[in-house]
Amino acid sequence: MALAPARRLALAAFSRARRNREWVRDALRACADDEAKHLGQGDRALAWRLALGAAGARAVLENRVREVVRKPSGLEPRVWDVLILGAFELGYLETPVPVAVDQWVSAATSVSPRSTGLANAVLRKLAGLRADVRGARARLEARERAAESGELALASGLPLWLVERLREVLGNAGAARFCLSLADPAPMWLVKTSPEASEADIAESDLDAVACAVPGLLAVGKPAAVEASSALDRGFSVEDRSAYEIALLSVPAAGASRLEIGCGRGTKTLAAATRLARSGAGAELVGVDDDGRRLAEARERAKSAGMDVDFIEGDGRELDALLPPGARFDVVFVDAPCSGTGTLRRHPEIAAALEPSALDSRNAGSLPALQLELLEAAAGRVGEGGWLLYATCSVLTEENEDVVEAFLRSPVGRGFEPAAIERLPGYRALEARARAELSADGFSGVRARTSVSPKSADGHFLAVFRGNAT
Ligand SMILES: C[S@@+](CC[C@H](N)C(=O)[O-])C[C@H]1O[C@@H](n2cnc3c(N)ncnc32)[C@H](O)[C@@H]1O
Repeated sequence: MALAPARRLALAAFSRARRNREWVRDALRACADDEAKHLGQGDRALAWRLALGAAGARAVLENRVREVVRKPSGLEPRVWDVLILGAFELGYLETPVPVAVDQWVSAATSVSPRSTGLANAVLRKLAGLRADVRGARARLEARERAAESGELALASGLPLWLVERLREVLGNAGAARFCLSLADPAPMWLVKTSPEASEADIAESDLDAVACAVPGLLAVGKPAAVEASSALDRGFSVEDRSAYEIALLSVPAAGASRLEIGCGRGTKTLAAATRLARSGAGAELVGVDDDGRRLAEARERAKSAGMDVDFIEGDGRELDALLPPGARFDVVFVDAPCSGTGTLRRHPEIAAALEPSALDSRNAGSLPALQLELLEAAAGRVGEGGWLLYATCSVLTEENEDVVEAFLRSPVGRGFEPAAIERLPGYRALEARARAELSADGFSGVRARTSVSPKSADGHFLAVFRGNAT
């Protein structure tokens, strides 16, 4: 049987991501060549599911493949990719086993004809993985008993050390919900990023997009259809609801100023700018990031949206080299570089790339060490009566609560105290309906961590501070 185009695209993207060390999501877009453009919605969705899913469950899949291949080190990398993708389809999707085996044997043949026999033998042996995964998921869903780490790892495909860490942070039930959430693609929301874009157009498309209580956000009923639709070319971008809610909370009062450290491609800066523009208010908006490529994209996006934002390239730990002396802002928002563990459904390869040492604040190059330095530098730029916000898209204490505590104990942090989200100008400008939605999502009090469960938005953390002299 010829290899189906969806699997061909998944294999091309998966191999490209490995070779170029890029995100699988980006590789999928880059591989969406002429042929892929003509794939139907279902085929496209399958290609994404296969490539992203295999990247996310890599820890489990690699172990299983190693158990049945006599000399794994002797395999060509592309054949290895075929076996990992095949193992994922066999273990985690519902494709009839003979079809999946046949398809991935064809893939192996197309990559290296002499690997046909080996692929056939290995994939047949891997067919038992499905029963194990189903059993583990069913037990989690039934909450028969506190799941063991091994079972959570099997159900989610996550490395064991990360599962154990999630159990410590989220508790057994929270970790089980988190792991079950990885079985489905991430939910999607759309926001308008260009003044010419029309929400009515999107409402009439086949995405089943409907406006929600959060202003500016459209919930997409058929996420698998987004990539194949023209929404992304028609002035909309994909957002996560929790991330967007944080952007709304970081909106300053009319006429005030806002500095974002780690502004990246400008998604939250532009969401804040759009919100201000919609209410007819202006503000001084500045974004800092040390990644020139992301900033170039941010500038481009701001230009096409007609937004006036000052994007500055440089290290957020050294703001004195980037900003005029004495420049202070009403809202200073640190959107910190982090592990991204709250966004694993969108970037599943994070799990395989993350090392426990990156989370240890005692290591000079660790994420918590960088996060604390960025927060301390940002604190020095908060104007009188201003607000300091710290956010991550991580669910891990090391990057969230521990950084906040370390900041409050530091010399600069002693000048600040935790402040409630409900006091933020961005929160107070929201209508009652939107406030209720944000509270339901977990945004209340002095620090918030949104939880991840099947169909939920991503896991984000937000802490708010205010100078204690104000
Ligand atoms: C969570 S991402 C930002 C997402 C962005 N705020 C948005 O809404 O699109 C964190 C950002 O921090 C940036 N970053 C990492 N280290 C940095 C540093 N030392 N100084 C400034 N930015 C840094 C990364 O390049 C990345 O764009």
